[in-house]
Amino acid sequence: MCGIVGCILNKEVAPTIIESIKKLEYRGYDSVGIATLTDKINVKKGSGKIKEVDDQIHLTEIDGNIGIAHVRWATHGNPTKENAHPHNSCDNKISVVHNGIIENYKELREELEKEGHTFKSETDTEVIPHLIEKYTKQGNDLLHATQKTINKLIGSYALAAISIDEPDKIIGARKESPLIVGVSEDGNFLASDVPAILNETRQVIYLDDNEIIQLEKDNVTVMNNQLEPIKKEVVTIDWNPEMAEKGGYPHFMLKEINEEPQVIKDTLSESPKIKEIVSKFKNFNRICFVACGTSYHASLIGEYLIETQLHIPTEVILASEFEYFQNTLDDHTLVIFITQSGETADTLKALKTAKKVSETLAIVNVVGSSITREADHVIYTRAGPEIGVAATKTYLSQLICIYLLVAHLSDDTWLIDKLSKLHDYSLNSLKHEENIKNIAKKYKSASDFFYIGRGFNYPTALEGALKLKEITYIHAEGYPSGELKHGPLALIDEGIPVVGILPPGPSYPKTYNNLQEIKARGANMIILGSEEDTQINQIENKILFNPGIDEIIAPLIYIIDLQLLSYYTSIEKKIDPDKPKNLAKSVTVV
Ligand code: G6P
Repeated sequence: MCGIVGCILNKEVAPTIIESIKKLEYRGYDSVGIATLTDKINVKKGSGKIKEVDDQIHLTEIDGNIGIAHVRWATHGNPTKENAHPHNSCDNKISVVHNGIIENYKELREELEKEGHTFKSETDTEVIPHLIEKYTKQGNDLLHATQKTINKLIGSYALAAISIDEPDKIIGARKESPLIVGVSEDGNFLASDVPAILNETRQVIYLDDNEIIQLEKDNVTVMNNQLEPIKKEVVTIDWNPEMAEKGGYPHFMLKEINEEPQVIKDTLSESPKIKEIVSKFKNFNRICFVACGTSYHASLIGEYLIETQLHIPTEVILASEFEYFQNTLDDHTLVIFITQSGETADTLKALKTAKKVSETLAIVNVVGSSITREADHVIYTRAGPEIGVAATKTYLSQLICIYLLVAHLSDDTWLIDKLSKLHDYSLNSLKHEENIKNIAKKYKSASDFFYIGRGFNYPTALEGALKLKEITYIHAEGYPSGELKHGPLALIDEGIPVVGILPPGPSYPKTYNNLQEIKARGANMIILGSEEDTQINQIENKILFNPGIDEIIAPLIYIIDLQLLSYYTSIEKKIDPDKPKNLAKSVTVV
């Protein structure tokens, strides 16, 4: 995680850099810092969110036409000012920002300390400016010193370095952490992700692992590890700057939930491309999904759908657990990687292993991200940039891609017909906002929440619970409704809120009975069901959906209101839902 930006302009760079780094705050918000070049290196940094630090030390009040900046999600060292990037060399001539983890930093630090270097932080990153300093003192320029430095590093990095002795350039490098270049007539940019540069340019170069870049005001040179120039394609991004702004909403999360009807339309329009990809698959007799977090829950729904509709053995593996299951992969397994960011380190690592034996498909939101460049086939989810740390519209778009995949694999039109109604259904779900606000108000002080569902909607229960814990810090668990009596029922007491997902369909009677068992133990029921369901009329807290939404497509629509429930509970608790504590949107550490 962490986000980095570098920028060279022919005007004061700080206002542009700080605006850019704000767009990467979803990657971490433990601390922020900026370094610029004049006749010296100027640094401003502090711990806390960008706004808090800016209010105190005015990050944009720093001179220079060339600079680098960083937002941190702490790994090595507490989120203090001392550990905030940028980090400088002993002589303060070199400054560096870094995203990733240097695994051999302890050995390197010991070596450097023996050679007389003094460290000011507890970070792994600080070895980088000291190593660059060491190599420049041996007569290398910044480019060659950076090359020599990264050859010593074990681990992952996207980094940017500036030096007082070469005040016209930034040197960058990447390995296993994302780094892109933005090219414009007014100057050039380096960043961890596209939203950081959208205000300045939509012309982007995606760097690959082990590439090094020299950024000058009018020139961008990409090189391999031997410093031989490489020709790279400049891609025009079709996201516009407004897509990465709040657009009048108080939070990105609420904006992103409200964008879901449009996301449904955009992602459904990928149907012909998905059909074409399906036609290219080799023979397979087993499917394996690999993902983390919310993407894992989307994969679980994929498992239910494929097992029931296609009768193909399917399993879902958490990317961080993949190594324990990789031995049974073969060339008749299709491995599907689901990830909104396309950068999750565990998922990327699993993909690199799986592709050696199996055909791989990635379902990804971020165009050009690392995972899209490793997989045999890529489906884009078309959700647009998602800034809120809790995934909302990207989850829905992942589900739509999975449903389309299943529809094309089975060559059946009934599922496509069902999907064609989603847009209208989603508009209706958004109308429940006032009802949901009231429920959130009522239960904001609960210490525990349970979510239950069966079949296709068991993963919906898991995802509803995850959203709640992520942004409200309330303990929440999702269970298959039939499992409650095998343990969790012991936790149900008078007044505990239980969210029951109860769409019409074959699973309805059993789930309804399970809810009665819970109600009899005094729980407060919050039921999501059909407008036509007369059995739930007497329940006080209910969210009612169009009757046409049966249990197969309920995961695509009911989740919108569960996202709203988490959002409004978070607001009631005065938590910033866009930046939950300890979490980050793009998890680039294993
Ligand atoms: C983080 C994010 C989650 C996301 C998970 C997997 O934990 O906060 O929202 O679901 O990573 O990310 P991916 O980009 O692989 O979908």
